[in-house]
Order: sequence, then C-alpha cells, then structure tokens
Amino acid sequence: MRWIGVIRIVVIVCTLLATWVFVERIFSSSWEAASLHKLFEKSGRADIVSKKIHRKCGNENDCPPNYFAFKVISGAANVVGPSICLEDKILMSSVKNNIGRGLNIALVNATTTELIKTGHFDMYSGDVKDVQAFLEKIKDGTLIFTASFDDPATKLDDKTRDLFTSFGSSYAKKLGFRDSWTFVGGKGLKTRSPFEQHLKNDKQNNKYDGWPEVLEISGCIPRKMGE
Ligand SMILES: *[C@@H]1O[C@H](CO)[C@@H](O)[C@H](O)[C@H]1NC(C)=O
Repeated sequence: MRWIGVIRIVVIVCTLLATWVFVERIFSSSWEAASLHKLFEKSGRADIVSKKIHRKCGNENDCPPNYFAFKVISGAANVVGPSICLEDKILMSSVKNNIGRGLNIALVNATTTELIKTGHFDMYSGDVKDVQAFLEKIKDGTLIFTASFDDPATKLDDKTRDLFTSFGSSYAKKLGFRDSWTFVGGKGLKTRSPFEQHLKNDKQNNKYDGWPEVLEISGCIPRKMGE
C-alpha cells in the first residue's frame, strides 16, 4: 500500500512537470517570436514595403509631428513642367493643368496646409503687374511655394524681386533669363528661408542646350502655431 502511494505521487509530479514544460513552450517568447511572426509575416512585410514606397510626396524621410512634407521641382528646359507637392497632395503640375511658362506659385495657409490659390505668370512676354498684384495680396501666415519653368525673370522688376526677398528669398534679386529656381517662403517670415535653390543659365555648365539642370527641394516645414 505504501509503495503504491509513493508511485502515485511520482506519477503526479511527472505529469505536472510535463504539463509545465509544454505550457512554458507555448508561451515562451521564442515560440511567439518564431510562430507568431510566421503567422503575420505577410502583412508585416507588406506594411514595410508600402512605407518604403510611400513617404509623403515621395520624400526620403518622414516628417515629425507638426511638420509638413513638401517637394518643389522646377521645370526642365521649356519641355517638362514644374510640380509642387505638399502633404502628399499635388498642388501644381502638368497633369493638374495649372502650370505655365514663367513663375509658378502656390499659396498655402501655414497653420492648416490648406491651399489658398495657385497662379502662373509668364515672365517672358506677360505683364509683371499681374504677379505683383498676386504677391501684394498675400496675408501674414501664408507659405509661398515657387517653381520656375523655362524663363522666370525677363520681365521681373525690382518691386517684384523685393516682394520675394521680403518672403525670405536670397536669390530673387539675382534671378536672370532662363535660370532655374525653387523657393519656399513665408509672408511675415523674419529670416532667410532655408528652402531655396538657384542655378544660373550658363552655356558652359547648362545640362540642356539653353537651360540649366532641374532643381528639386524637399523636406519638412514646421506648422505655424498660434499667431
Ligand atoms: C489659416 O487658417 C486659419 C484657420 O482657419 C485662419 O484663422 C487663418 O486666418 C488662415 N490664415 C491665412 C493666411 O489664410
């Protein structure tokens, strides 16, 4: 009788041990890592791939919270039109059919990213008064996205250049015939904009016969907070 009792206890202990090992395997982190990962591998991969392909505006990096992703591309010679993207929305492009030779400008609310309006101004044979009137009406707290196409400067006068300079531009003063120019400024900005590029039309260095290389600027603009 005594021996039977001892054997019973041994059997019970062995069963408990086996159960514990089994349970421990199921819930161990290595099991989870191996099997759960396999289970969700497909969706996990799709997620990573889509992130790689789809950053806002096709940019290389995501923007931190309260920053807007943007990309501005100037026109290529007099052939391919410029494009302006903000928060993954194309504001101006050939496809949108709202661009033209000269200066292409999109005005955006710096607090909400809402598009206020767009305009394109022929600087080779247009009237500079049109772009002047457009720029003079801009209210404080507006972002000004600008891309050149073909010739941004022939008709540009000092008054209009000064307006761009007041939005933070460093190159508006020097802009010349068929130069490439991309610029993001702000009305009420107290400093030079860090988002600007300029390439002189220069026969020795031009990428195309009569025009310099396309310019592209992209990055993250901090949201305007409060007033
Ligand atoms: C931007 O939007 C805010 C909220 O609607 C508005 O109060 C502000 O006046 C707008 N600013 C501009 C420059 O349009």
